[in-house]
Amino acid sequence: MRRGPTNQTSPQTVRETNRPASAQGLDLSVDLAPNNPHHLWLTNPVMIASGTFGYDGYGRGITEDMDLNQLGAVVPKTFTRLPREGNLEPQWYPKSYREAWDAGDLLFLNAIGLTNPGIEAAMRDVTPGWDRWNATCILSFSSDSVAQFGEMAAMANQGTGYQAIELNLSCPNIADGSMFGHSPGLTAQAVEAVRANTSLPLLAKLAPNVPNIVEIARAAVDAGADALTICNTIPAMRIDTQSRQPVLGNITGGLSGQGLRPISMALVYQVSNELDVPIIGVGGIFSGEHAAEYILAGASAVQIGSANLVGLSAPWRILTELQDWMHQSGLTNLRGLV
Ligand SMILES: Cc1cc2nc3c(=O)[nH]c(=O)nc-3n(C[C@H](O)[C@H](O)[C@H](O)COP(=O)(O)O)c2cc1C
Repeated sequence: MRRGPTNQTSPQTVRETNRPASAQGLDLSVDLAPNNPHHLWLTNPVMIASGTFGYDGYGRGITEDMDLNQLGAVVPKTFTRLPREGNLEPQWYPKSYREAWDAGDLLFLNAIGLTNPGIEAAMRDVTPGWDRWNATCILSFSSDSVAQFGEMAAMANQGTGYQAIELNLSCPNIADGSMFGHSPGLTAQAVEAVRANTSLPLLAKLAPNVPNIVEIARAAVDAGADALTICNTIPAMRIDTQSRQPVLGNITGGLSGQGLRPISMALVYQVSNELDVPIIGVGGIFSGEHAAEYILAGASAVQIGSANLVGLSAPWRILTELQDWMHQSGLTNLRGLV
């Protein structure tokens, strides 16, 4: 989706965009918010996942030749209400995903702890600069309470530089310590609080480690989510047998990468079977074929996460490979493939 100057992103002034034109005889366009008056048209379904956009989650290392406008959308790293320092080091394991990948170690762990400047500073100093990418940007935030979700949505409603919101529901509700994304009730309350304060297209990002993903997905949709992002990392740990210490400073963290792909894909399939809502599949996508698998499982779009940390040019390569797969499969668009 392309827009003019994105100082017009508050819902009062967001323009309904027209469907993007096709490229190379292929129509990869997708609307992630078909029932929202603003819509969320992407030129193609390949997005960058939150926390993996450049080395700091906010685009560090992205160079001039990486044209973000060629991708479907970018989700920079999650903001919280107040600044966060992050967890104890080490926050990553292995230390370099690139070196691990080359060595064949495919189990990626992180426990960053949502290091971020807080939403106030972000909206003053960070998000206005996103306009320079000329890309569709999606603001990700998480909160400590239902009321804070509403408060952050009201703040986000006044900001610039993004066209939609993704709620990171893998965060604890301080009132009872339970994770928002683990409970249909809390998920519904968080989404409702946000929906009440903004009409921007709203993606709810779900946690994978729940007994019944369909229940939680349904709660998010009924409360007003326009699309679902499935899924965040899954809790994990590893121990260094030499030092007999956990490899992460936080002891446990989240598993991403190859191991997550079949888990997330099953969740995408289960939800798409039951609900008529756009789903963004995330987890272990390293090739166009992996992206195609998710689309066949029911996803309308995909997000690339760990693959960015193996090499920042991954999303462009994956998009090209997806287009190659479409050509080879005699497909001109991705609709109705499920
Ligand atoms: C280093 C790192 C940081 C992440 N930070 C965030 C974050 O701030 N917010 C969020 O919603 N997800 C975050 N994630 C999760 C990813 O967006 C994605 O859901 C997950 O990594 C699965 O995709 P992948 O297997 O392609 O990496 C992070 C993942 C990694 C690897």
